[in-house]
Amino acid sequence: MEEKITFSVIKADVGGFVGHSAMHSDLIEEAKRRLGAVQEQGMIVDFHVTACGDDLQLIMTHHKGIDNEEIHQLAWEVFEACTEVAKGLKLYGAGQDLLADAFSGNVKGMGPGVAEMEFAERKSEPIIVYMADKTSAGAWNLPLYKMFADPFNTAGLIIAPSMHVGFRFEVHDVKAKKRIFFDTPEEIYDLLVFIGATGRYLIKAVYTKDGEIASVSSTQRLALIAGKYVGKDDPVCVVRCQSKFPAVGEVLEPFTMPHIVQGWMRGSHYGPLMPVAVHQATPSRFDGPPRVIALGFQVAYGRLIGPRDMFDDPGFNEARRLCNTLADQLRCHGPFEPHRLPMEEMEYTTLPQVMEKLGDRWEDLPEE
Ligand code: F6R
Ligand code: MG
Ligand code: MG
Repeated sequence: MEEKITFSVIKADVGGFVGHSAMHSDLIEEAKRRLGAVQEQGMIVDFHVTACGDDLQLIMTHHKGIDNEEIHQLAWEVFEACTEVAKGLKLYGAGQDLLADAFSGNVKGMGPGVAEMEFAERKSEPIIVYMADKTSAGAWNLPLYKMFADPFNTAGLIIAPSMHVGFRFEVHDVKAKKRIFFDTPEEIYDLLVFIGATGRYLIKAVYTKDGEIASVSSTQRLALIAGKYVGKDDPVCVVRCQSKFPAVGEVLEPFTMPHIVQGWMRGSHYGPLMPVAVHQATPSRFDGPPRVIALGFQVAYGRLIGPRDMFDDPGFNEARRLCNTLADQLRCHGPFEPHRLPMEEMEYTTLPQVMEKLGDRWEDLPEE
């Protein structure tokens, strides 16, 4: 039996350049230097450091399994070191996502976003890592549904014998802290009842029906951890492709139809999720629109062959153009819904403070 490899993506916003729009190269260099040093000692097999907007992304392979304390501590220490670099440059929001004063066992619940999976490498192992900025963890629900359960997106569900049986979705209720599994296609109507509510029910993982991991997402919701608005979740998602999983093109296809996600300016607006090349993942217009990048790797004996910048393709030009049209239309609404999030969704923003301040000025309506 081949040794299993763990694929870990751990990310945090530890300082933006300029404002919340992008990443300073000094942070990338610091993270590369530190991960390079531990790679030499053999703790990790390989790594790739990148950024989506103001989020620093550590993509690592190792043999220690998911939720491993040493790997999480390593990521935490890299984020702390990069925070120091950010402070030296007075970058914006230095250390923003490090919600705890010190590391305690697992970065989950401490601010950073985490998506990890462990698997035995196949003969060839194509993987796509999605990373988003200016949006929340629910942004993956719709594209994951399309990739793994929608035959209008994924032709293989109909015509590939290996996929015709469908997949199993693991859905988390992040408010009640519960989880449930749904088999597709049998239970798609039940599944959609929940995952359509993207603020609460998040697709954590997708498996083949015989239990092999196909996809995993970060489901950490910063506001639920901190109890107030401290920045958007800016989630990540890892998807294995080809053969018994959807093809690379089927995994990318959902992003040709820009869907509307929560986030954008002050984490308080709906906007289209724009698929872009890494060098375009610099949300500046009204701190957005929200961005998603896709890096493709071939994993070979734990080594990360790549990346290929999958959205750096004219095939996504039309989606980007449509995003700008949708962005114009939504921006016309200014502070009105449906551009601004509804009250219930603003629970964890600055709005409650304004409402509290004005609380006493509300009078009862006269009797009719
Ligand atoms: C959204 C985001 C930004 C900030 C905005 C205000 O996720 O990070 O839109 O919310 O730039 O930032 P502050 O309050 O730090 O001035
Ligand atoms: Mg930021
Ligand atoms: Mg961000």
